[in-house]
Amino acid sequence: MKTIASIVGARPQFIKAAPVSRALTSHFNEVMIHTGQHYDYEMSDLFFKEMDMRQPDFNLGIGGGTHGAQTGMMLIELEKVISAVKPDCVLVYGDTNSTLAGALTAAKAGIPLAHVEAGLRSYNRAMPEEVNRVLTDHVSSWLFCPTDAAIKNLQKEGITKGVHQIGDVIYDALLRNLEIARAKSQILERMSLKKGEYALATVHRAGNTDDRTNMQSILDALGSLPTRVIFPVHPRTRKRIEEWKFAINENVSLIEPLGPLDILQLQENADCILTDSGGMQKEAYLLGARCITLRDETEWVETVSAGWNSLAGVDAKRIRALYGTWKPARERPLLYGDGHAAEKIAQILRDELN
Ligand code: UD1
Repeated sequence: MKTIASIVGARPQFIKAAPVSRALTSHFNEVMIHTGQHYDYEMSDLFFKEMDMRQPDFNLGIGGGTHGAQTGMMLIELEKVISAVKPDCVLVYGDTNSTLAGALTAAKAGIPLAHVEAGLRSYNRAMPEEVNRVLTDHVSSWLFCPTDAAIKNLQKEGITKGVHQIGDVIYDALLRNLEIARAKSQILERMSLKKGEYALATVHRAGNTDDRTNMQSILDALGSLPTRVIFPVHPRTRKRIEEWKFAINENVSLIEPLGPLDILQLQENADCILTDSGGMQKEAYLLGARCITLRDETEWVETVSAGWNSLAGVDAKRIRALYGTWKPARERPLLYGDGHAAEKIAQILRDELN
């Protein structure tokens, strides 16, 4: 059996890796390497537990630090593991520093690389994620794209070989997790929330959290909404809120980061989702919740053209106005595949590597 080394490190990667890892089991020996980028219980272990994933084979314990130091340390440690494991393929997900470190390690070791969620672009090079995506795609042998737009983005950069549109593994994950979430999650009861009577907010992008004016503006917007706002706070954001001593309006409930089941329940039942997360924009669409994106651009352009996602940036007036007046479209065409993206990845890699 051939060996695939999967590299994960941050919260969204655990969600994407769960269905792929399951699909790989019958065809490959999978070695999972966790870089340690996310390390708090609520940001990491809770995901493995609730999604019933086996523990990673290695955890490198590299969390925190500047972008350069973090990526560099990952590169040093990943090289050691990869040269011991000698995989036939390295598999990376998304656009984090763990993705880039995994991609560079594979490229330097001369091991073919597969990238899940390839071809996404915001065309904003100030985002660390954009640089990570572009560089990873350019050293990948297999590029698994979720959307037509992603395929076109790669074509524009001259990448056509090894490109497959397979749908989005987030949809695979959602179909499985939603059923469990509906049966098991008690979050609505615990927080006394009713369907359609609250908004859900998340903020973690460096461009928002590390800029005092932007963060203040987002908090002003949330504080001015005529509804209760549930705000699970990412550790990066929590640090800033404490450091800058922002006042929080009483309609906004700051809570700890949530696991994958509780967050799905909150998303499915929210009147509106306000977020700068990529995964949440898609999940909002798939669950039929309107989404106001707290950024000026998005990689998930089809959610905007379908009329379910509205780009608001961080302007408090604009966010408030959209919240009050904007209604989503009636139709919600299938945009992210058929829920079998993970199996397609496993089949393609099996055909190519054997
Ligand atoms: C990273 C990804 C982003 C992804 C996001 C999901 C990069 C460049 N960014 O951003 O693409 O959407 O994950 O959440 O890779 N921290 C903790 N506890 C944790 C994790 C982080 O306290 O469990 C702290 C870190 O020490 C750091 C800060 O939060 O000070 C930010 O963490 P970082 O790893 O830079 O990434 P994210 O902001 O989560």
